[in-house]
Amino acid sequence: AQNERESLLIALNYAKNYYQNNLFQHEEGQSIAYPYFKERGFSDKTIRTFELGYSLENWDAFTKEALKNGYNLDILVKAGLTILKQNEQENPQQNQKTFDRFRNRVTFPIHNVSGKVIAFGARILKNDKSQAKYLNSPETEVYHKSNVLYGIFQAKNAIRTKDVCYLVEGYTDVISLHQAGIENVVASSGTSLTIEQIRLIARFSQNITVLYDGDPAGIKASLRGMDMILEEGLNVKLVVFPEGEDPDSYVQKIGSEAFVEYIHKNASDFITFKAELFLKEAGSDPFKRAELIKDMVGSISKIPDTITRSVFFQKTASLMQIDEAILITESNKITLERS
Ligand code: CTP
Ligand code: MN
Ligand code: MN
Ligand code: MN
Ligand code: MN
Repeated sequence: AQNERESLLIALNYAKNYYQNNLFQHEEGQSIAYPYFKERGFSDKTIRTFELGYSLENWDAFTKEALKNGYNLDILVKAGLTILKQNEQENPQQNQKTFDRFRNRVTFPIHNVSGKVIAFGARILKNDKSQAKYLNSPETEVYHKSNVLYGIFQAKNAIRTKDVCYLVEGYTDVISLHQAGIENVVASSGTSLTIEQIRLIARFSQNITVLYDGDPAGIKASLRGMDMILEEGLNVKLVVFPEGEDPDSYVQKIGSEAFVEYIHKNASDFITFKAELFLKEAGSDPFKRAELIKDMVGSISKIPDTITRSVFFQKTASLMQIDEAILITESNKITLERS
């Protein structure tokens, strides 16, 4: 119901303030969380812009405080903030235990387009393989993960004015780029990109540049994302970062000016991107070259606009030294099979 949604949003906003307060006022936040953000190079202004915070180590500090302030337990649970654990063997009323979902983690509120907090991501402070690096809110009545882009509220105006959206993987990529003055950036937050996320970007610009991590997972996700973006009729470019770098680490390493230059020099259209990735490996092996060409045609076939498709047929034909008419025939075959 509308009423319950509103209650969840109020509780989530309360949690955001509570975590922020821990970061700036609580000695635990001051001694471990604030220094963590400083080590990552985040300024106070950046911490405020993204409303970053900290959840205490204590197992139910948040829930207790929220209950004391009149928040309803049922709402806290439905908001994904509190976890209810029931001991089924005994009297459930006596054995109902509540836990804070986020404990001993720095918190990243996730905002909807209008700036309301709808969920959290939360990161452990010290990398430790026994725990998930990030813990995220579950799906709730106000949080549908597949419809959300991290940073969209802070980025939307810049996406519109720059008329391009940088798409990154992670929370800290958004934050570091924003701090470096590159504000038109959102994250798919590790999940594979969805149609809903692409349509959300399309409200502000038709141009997406994918800046995924420079590792095999990032490249694989770029290839998948590219086809989805093309299929939605948007323009896509892609950038590969040096192995082991992501936009956050790279901008912190080389500085914002050099980073912007790197993007401009290295943003490739999708045909060039595929050629750079696979052409060297294919070498002069005709079968491998054929596979690559088929793959390129597959991506071109996703483009709804005829003229745009034609431009990329031409590009592929000259790059791969193959007759354009053959590419078009192959593409028509693919489109027929699909319908
Ligand atoms: N992610 C997640 N759960 C994990 C790991 C990752 O939800 N256990 C999501 C987060 O949104 C994260 C994104 O996937 O920001 C990208 O993952 P990764 O590249 O591993 O993390 P970074 O964002 O680079 O995080 P950091 O720099 O803090 O290590
Ligand atoms: Mn809903
Ligand atoms: Mn990654
Ligand atoms: Mn990363
Ligand atoms: Mn990172």
